[in-house]
Amino acid sequence: VSSYPSHISLLPSIQQCNLTNLPENYFLKYYLYHALTWPQLSFVAVVRGRGGKPGAYPKVVGYVLAKMEEEPTDGVAHGHITSLSVMRTHRRLGIAEKLMRMSQRAMAEMFNAEYVSLHVRMSNVAALHLYRDTLGFEVEKVESKYYADGEDAYAMKMDLKSLQ
Ligand code: ACO
Repeated sequence: VSSYPSHISLLPSIQQCNLTNLPENYFLKYYLYHALTWPQLSFVAVVRGRGGKPGAYPKVVGYVLAKMEEEPTDGVAHGHITSLSVMRTHRRLGIAEKLMRMSQRAMAEMFNAEYVSLHVRMSNVAALHLYRDTLGFEVEKVESKYYADGEDAYAMKMDLKSLQ
């Protein structure tokens, strides 16, 4: 798992990973915007090329795309998880947890974020377990019809003051 700056060339592969795993997708320039504006906050999980040969192109198996909220309505500096996913072949290995913890630590240490927020589909059992039970997020509110297909979202947040 490593941060973006050394892996900017992997942005198209990260975009591909997102397309494979989630219906919420973004233009490449949005990934680039995250990487250029908050390079410390996004992380990628890769497996080395066959046999770990030097020079072999690494394959992206997971990413967290994260940012600082640019105009927080509550006036409190906080981070936001734009997107997180791990390829099916590499799930239940602790990759998502690690990606999230790395991003959260960077938000608190480098941007003084007081908390981190995200949205998740109410039907997304795996992600809800990860956020609520493993990481300690709490549901702040339900956002009705948040997603393009009409599904509601939980708006969740987690305090980061202990990491600052
Ligand atoms: N069922 C129940 N709990 C689960 C599941 C599951 N299928 N998967 C993960 N969890 C929970 C467990 O509590 C797990 O801890 P444990 O293994 O000790 O029991 C904990 O999450 C940590 O699991 P990880 O191995 O770190 O999670 P993983 O790397 O498998 O990734 C993820 C989880 C990201 C939700 C993955 O299933 C995925 O990519 N799903 C599709 C995309 C997605 O839903 N992304 C989140 C959308 S919300 C957003 O992007 C802000």
